[in-house]
Amino acid sequence: MAEWIHTVTARTPTNIAVIKYWGKRDESLILPVNDSISVTLDPQHLCTTTTVAVSPSFDQDRMWLNGKEISLSGGRYQNCLREIRARGEDFEDKEKGIKIAKQDWQKLRVHVASYNNFPTAAGLASSAAGLACLVFALAKLMNAKEDASQLSAIARQGSGSACRSLYGGFVKWIMGKEVNGSDSLAVQLADENHWDDLVIIIAVVSSRQKETSSTTGMRDTVETSILLQHRAREVVPKRIVKMEEAIRNRNFSLFAQLACADSNQFHAVCLDTCPPIFYMNDTSHRIISCIEKWNRFEESPQVAYTFDAGPNAVLIARNRKTAALLLQRLLYFFPPSADTDMGSYVLGDKSILK
Ligand code: PMV
Repeated sequence: MAEWIHTVTARTPTNIAVIKYWGKRDESLILPVNDSISVTLDPQHLCTTTTVAVSPSFDQDRMWLNGKEISLSGGRYQNCLREIRARGEDFEDKEKGIKIAKQDWQKLRVHVASYNNFPTAAGLASSAAGLACLVFALAKLMNAKEDASQLSAIARQGSGSACRSLYGGFVKWIMGKEVNGSDSLAVQLADENHWDDLVIIIAVVSSRQKETSSTTGMRDTVETSILLQHRAREVVPKRIVKMEEAIRNRNFSLFAQLACADSNQFHAVCLDTCPPIFYMNDTSHRIISCIEKWNRFEESPQVAYTFDAGPNAVLIARNRKTAALLLQRLLYFFPPSADTDMGSYVLGDKSILK
C-alpha cells in the first residue's frame, strides 16, 4: 500500500453525575445497577483532546496518554476498538490519495494520542472524557455512521460514565433491561442552553490519583453493601423521576436537594462496603458543612455539592452572582495551600460536545 496517514482530532468534555452510577450488574459489558443523570461541562476547562491516526505503515495499535505510552491491551480499549472497527465504512480522500474499504479497518492499525487538561484519575471523571473522546474520534476516522446514542453504548463499554459525555447539557444513562446491553445507553434530557444560569466551580482538594479505582470499589460494593441494594431498587428510581422534573422546570431547590442527597448516599454506600472506601477527606467534609450552613441560612438552597470517587468538590451555584460569592467564600475559608489541602479552583459551564 502507498504511504499516507489519515488523522482526526476531537475534543470531549467530562461530565459530573448529579445522580450517581455506582455498581455494575455485568462487569464485562459495563451494565449499571441503576440509571444516572449528569451534567456535561464546558470543554475549555475539563476536557480530553484526542488525535487518532491510521496508516498502512503502522504495525500495531498504540496509545499515548499525556505523552506517555500506555497499553491498549485492556478489555475496555479493545471493546471500543473492536466495536468501531466493525462499524467502519468506505472512506476516500482524493486529494491525499487515500482510499479505505470498510473491510480494511480490521487490518489497519491505529495510533492514539490523548491529553487531559486536568488531573487524571483523581475523581474528576477523566476516564469519562477520555473514552468518550476515543470512541467519537475513532468513529469519525473510520467513517462510522452511528448516532450519539449508539456511540454512547460503545463508549459505555470503555468506561461506564463515558457514555454520558457524548452529549452536552443534561444527560441520562438509562440502565436498560437487555442482558446484551443493547438498551443501556445515554440520552440527552436538555441541551446546554436550557439552564444556562448555573455555574460550576470545582475545588481541586487533591490532584493525587485515588487509592481505590472505581472498578475495584464498585466490585467490592456490589459484593458487600446491603445499602446499595436499597439505594438501587428503592431510592434512585424515585430520585431520577424527581431530578428530571427539577431539570425540566429549572427548579434549583429540588435540584440541589437531590444532588447533595445523592452524593452523600453514594459516599455512604462506599462506607458500607467491606473494606470501607474513603473517597472524601477532612477538607471535603468541611466544604459540605460550609455549603449546608449557607443553604440553611438562606430561604432556599443557593449551591449544590457533589463528590465523585475522590475528595474534589463539584459545586453548582444557582447563578453567576451566587457563584461570585461562593468563590469569595471558598478562597477565604480554603485558600489554595498545602495546609488546607486545597490545590486550586476550576470554573466550568455546561456545554456541548464540540
Ligand atoms: O465510569 P467510571 O468507572 O469512572 O465510574 C464513575 C463513577 C462515579 O464518577 C463515582 C459516578 C458517576 O456516575 O459518574
